[in-house]
Amino acid sequence: MDKKKVLVLNGSPKPVSDTMQLTGAFLKGLNAEDKYDVKIINVIEKNVQPCRGCFACMHSNEVFCPIEDDMREILSDIMAADVLIWSFPLYCYAMPSHLKAVLDRILPLNHMTMVKESDGRVHHAEKADVKEKKILVISGCGFPNWEGNFDGLRIMCRNCFGDAPVICVPETPMMNVPAAAPAADPLRARFTAAGVEFDQTGTLSPQTSGGLEWHMIPAEQYIAIVNSNG
Ligand SMILES: Cc1cc2nc3c(=O)[nH]c(=O)nc-3n(C[C@H](O)[C@H](O)[C@H](O)COP(=O)(O)O)c2cc1C
Repeated sequence: MDKKKVLVLNGSPKPVSDTMQLTGAFLKGLNAEDKYDVKIINVIEKNVQPCRGCFACMHSNEVFCPIEDDMREILSDIMAADVLIWSFPLYCYAMPSHLKAVLDRILPLNHMTMVKESDGRVHHAEKADVKEKKILVISGCGFPNWEGNFDGLRIMCRNCFGDAPVICVPETPMMNVPAAAPAADPLRARFTAAGVEFDQTGTLSPQTSGGLEWHMIPAEQYIAIVNSNG
């Protein structure tokens, strides 16, 4: 039997991403039984130009964009994926601009036809040849937990990805500090357990999601450590 496909869009521009530590732990659980082919695209390495707003894509029945760049390959990987994971650091309360370019450029997956959901949300209808896929968002950030840091991102993700789980993790630079392992390793373990759950259910329970959005150390302690390092 063909393996299912997981596509990770890694939006960190860094060679060693804090957020990808969490995503890697999640993949370990998701693929514990080797059911998936996993492809990771480091978006920063790709040539993805900004959307030109021509709407040629939405007036075509094909998944088509007139811009000839790496987005063609990315679009075909997205269409082939059963699971799509957006993994990125929070930049100015949103996704990094090179990844936002990818998000803008998935417009060819939609028709111009508008659909109104029962909750009032309006979106474009997906093209017929775009199959159902499970989506997950994992975003790390440098601030400690504070109300509001992820609000803008959550609203954008809800509108773009519907009910897909959006996991927002504060203090993620700790994931790459060896001395922080006693605080970071339990979070890694939670991500691995969440990967198992996602494989089994195709989503994450609110309890599981909440347990991942975990500040590893109290905010005051985190701020003191950051400030003492200049
Ligand atoms: C340009 C820029 C903007 C950032 N904006 C935010 C922000 O709005 N909120 C926040 O908590 N952290 C912010 N950060 C910190 C990163 O989210 C943090 O360092 C994260 O751990 C980096 O993850 P990565 O290693 O996966 O790239 C920003 C960092 C950069 C470079």
